[in-house]
Amino acid sequence: MSILNDNQKYGLISIIFHWAMAVIVLITFLLGKNLQDNFENYYAILALHNSFGILIFILAIFRITWKFINIKPDALPNKIIFMKLASLSHIVFYVIFFVMPFTGYLLTNLQGDIVSFFGTSLPNILERNSDLKYYVHDIHFYLGNILLLILGLHILGALYHHIILKDNTLRRITLMKLNK
Ligand code: HEM
Ligand code: HEM
Repeated sequence: MSILNDNQKYGLISIIFHWAMAVIVLITFLLGKNLQDNFENYYAILALHNSFGILIFILAIFRITWKFINIKPDALPNKIIFMKLASLSHIVFYVIFFVMPFTGYLLTNLQGDIVSFFGTSLPNILERNSDLKYYVHDIHFYLGNILLLILGLHILGALYHHIILKDNTLRRITLMKLNK
């Protein structure tokens, strides 16, 4: 298994980035959704949510750098509209990896809390402001819903390739052997 991507498949580093970030994004999302129903543990959950969210931001910088160093495996044939949708959804994922942590950071400060990154307190960049908080909360909330929608389409697309088209789309971003 090669470290780098080639024309046929993703290399080991891209595969690790994909699946590690998929797990971390899901954890962060679920922690975010749990915040409002969990008053007793609110600050513990918020600290974890902050930490994983910022980790996504940092990993996304490394992942994009790695993308530029590498070549992209050739797209496997599909209807043009699906190929365009797939590329668009990948771009939206990357936008979300940056904009959600940014709005989350602002939101934490606006509600009067300090952002924590695995035990380290990070500087406040905004003062508490209840009016602005509602707007930023809306952006963070709607982006979360867009993330869920795109993820649903992404998984359906992957399964469509794997089960219906029976091509290597899913195989080549895992450790599975490629079909000839
Ligand atoms: C939150 C979870 C996930 C995120 C954020 C995510 C994001 C991405 C991104 C950005 C890419 C583009 C390649 C790259 O930049 O490295 C990609 C590719 C891919 N993902 Fe995911 N993914 C997630 C979960 C999943 C799951 C659960 C599956 C399978 C059921 C999956 C299957 C694939 C496949 C097959 C590709 C390759 C597509 C191609 O070759 O064009 N992903 N994913
Ligand atoms: C990709 C990263 C992130 C994702 C996917 C994410 C997702 C979410 C979700 C789904 C919610 C619940 C929204 C709702 O239903 O009302 C939420 C709330 C929140 N998130 Fe994030 N978030 C991310 C990053 C961050 C970061 C980095 C911070 C702070 C540094 C943060 C701070 C907050 C705060 C303060 C709330 C509101 C809590 C409340 O309503 O009491 N988020 N997030």
